[in-house]
Amino acid sequence: MPIDFKGLRVVSFESRQAAEMAELIKAAGGEPVIAPSMREIPFEHNSEAFMFAKLLLAGWIDLVILMTGVGTRLLVKTVATKYSIPELIEALRSVKIIALGPKPVAALRDMGLAPTIFVPKPYTWTDLLGTFDDKYPLHNKRVAIQEYGQSNPEMIKALEERGAQVLSVPVYRWELPEDLEPLRRAMQDIIGGDARRADFALFTSATQVRHLFQVARMDGVESKLRQAFKQVCIGSVGPIASRAITEQGLTVDYEPDTPKMVHLVREMARRGGDLLYKKRTAFANRVDTNQWRRIDMVWQPGAKGQPTIKDSVFMKACRRERTPYTPVWIMRQAGRYQREYLRIRKKWTMLELCKTPEVAAEVTLMAVDRLGVDAAIIFADILLVTEPMGLNLEFVKGEGPVIHNPTRTPGDVDRLNDPDVNELSYVFDAIKITRRALRPDIALIGFAGAPFTIASYMIEGGKSRDYAKTKTMMYRDKATWHALMERLTKILSEYLNGQIAAGADAVQLFDSWVGSLSPDDYRQYVMPHVKRLIEGIDKSAPVINFSTGNPALLPLMKEAGGDVIGLDWRVDLGDAWSMLGDDVAVMGNLDPIVLYTSPKEIRAQVQAILDKAAGRPGHIFNLGHGILPDMPPENVAELVDAVHELSAR
Ligand code: CP3
Repeated sequence: MPIDFKGLRVVSFESRQAAEMAELIKAAGGEPVIAPSMREIPFEHNSEAFMFAKLLLAGWIDLVILMTGVGTRLLVKTVATKYSIPELIEALRSVKIIALGPKPVAALRDMGLAPTIFVPKPYTWTDLLGTFDDKYPLHNKRVAIQEYGQSNPEMIKALEERGAQVLSVPVYRWELPEDLEPLRRAMQDIIGGDARRADFALFTSATQVRHLFQVARMDGVESKLRQAFKQVCIGSVGPIASRAITEQGLTVDYEPDTPKMVHLVREMARRGGDLLYKKRTAFANRVDTNQWRRIDMVWQPGAKGQPTIKDSVFMKACRRERTPYTPVWIMRQAGRYQREYLRIRKKWTMLELCKTPEVAAEVTLMAVDRLGVDAAIIFADILLVTEPMGLNLEFVKGEGPVIHNPTRTPGDVDRLNDPDVNELSYVFDAIKITRRALRPDIALIGFAGAPFTIASYMIEGGKSRDYAKTKTMMYRDKATWHALMERLTKILSEYLNGQIAAGADAVQLFDSWVGSLSPDDYRQYVMPHVKRLIEGIDKSAPVINFSTGNPALLPLMKEAGGDVIGLDWRVDLGDAWSMLGDDVAVMGNLDPIVLYTSPKEIRAQVQAILDKAAGRPGHIFNLGHGILPDMPPENVAELVDAVHELSAR
């Protein structure tokens, strides 16, 4: 799906960069509502800070309590505009200092100071009071408290009850803007009742969140505002703003991987309609969006103007129909290059992940949501089929897949189970869950390894450079080879049809390593099996026949079958397509390595491939092979946007 807020109203609370945000929102198809929420306070206006310095230097203060690291640093910076820092440090050395937690301690350390009284974890003010009661009687002591953000009247009262004289030293950098009208109007747009006039609210700092709620409190509409946010999508630029949002009891609906305004706006625009749909469906069903998993967002294709799979640009391209833009998805779009994927992988092994349909579905959807691609590919692996055949499969960190009991002799082939495909029902379940939760016009791709590629893992026991064991069996013992290929063809065909029955809209055969064969070998040892496999696949789902490494095999792959031929980057897409003919669609074929470069280079190379396709119907954009784990996620997103933008017709 191309980037588009579709005219929805997007509130921005940005102040300094208000105009830039308005431009970004407009460029992404939204109607900006600009509500500046902050005003920078010049240091010299912070009179409490100067009063503190004066009293400290005069020897009036006995104890300084530092509440926060940011506040401590800001206090020093402010005071430094009028007083000499070495003198202040000297004065601080002769008083007692308490720092609440490691951050103010670090700020002190930078000045060569250390706290004199230690507070136990978790550094709350009750821990602090306990410390006084034990070690430092407060009677008649003069105490200065550095406060940042909010003051804590209860704490001040408790100190005073213990006989202290308290000077509170608020330090702040930001205040509410002088003109609160735009912020109030935006707040009313959000609250609005039936006349709600805001769909998205974008926060680009934590202070914006606090200020919005401060004004809401002043106006007595705090709880109304909180309630209203259940129907307005909340975007947060990064983790600190997100924490401020959750502190208000709200849910962050989107936070980009890269904490920048431009990513926030573009990525939210790309999936804006979905997010809003999810949020408002959750609200209508009275579900707390905090508890609402992505897979709980179920669509009703065709209902109330909802799209259906007939609207899928990807499916149209598979059938070589004209499309408004070139559809794109990316091999390995769910995987280790994503931070969220790595988070999930900390909790589950690769195999556990594949076998837990809810989680596999979440991972599948996450990639689509993040990237705005036109198709999902179910999260699974081509080697899962080897388990029900009786093989002991493991994904070893840093090494890839390993099969501990490889299939190498005629006896090994004989001993393979004749498996029941329902042992792989976890994949079917993941497909069912994903299909319900995926936008109806985004296609869901099922997949399997092609017989040669699976056989190579079964025989080698893992990855290989020259496929020596595989080819030796193939050349030396044709009967065993064909027997193995037949067994694979049978299970793979049941497996793919099971995926289609579960809801896969298209299927892809990955023959990743078949390029190690010559055309004659392919024709003799592989093609008959692939042909039979593809002939047996339910005709309702288009088949993508993909391989890498050997362009000389392409005409034979076409002969073997498939509605779409997947190309790697080693061929010129235009030449390959002309050779294959107009009666087949093609997928590809950007060199994945381009994703290490820059948006500029990515765009140039995307354009070059689109030029080769020359607007012929039936081109699906993809990499020539999968994304690598250390590729920058923002470049992956850039690729998707570039394809959509440059191919729009
Ligand atoms: O997003 C997607 O593309 C869907 C999921 C998918 C995976 N594997 C997940 C996976 C798909 C389509 C595959 C297919 C696959 N698996 C192929 C064919 C595609 C290709 O790249 O040629 C092959 C050859 C395999 C076998 C396989 N599985 C290998 C070689 C590896 C190790 C890769 C590595 O770099 O370590 C796997 C593991 C695997 N499969 C991972 C993922 C996300 C990494 C697992 C992890 O999180 O540690």
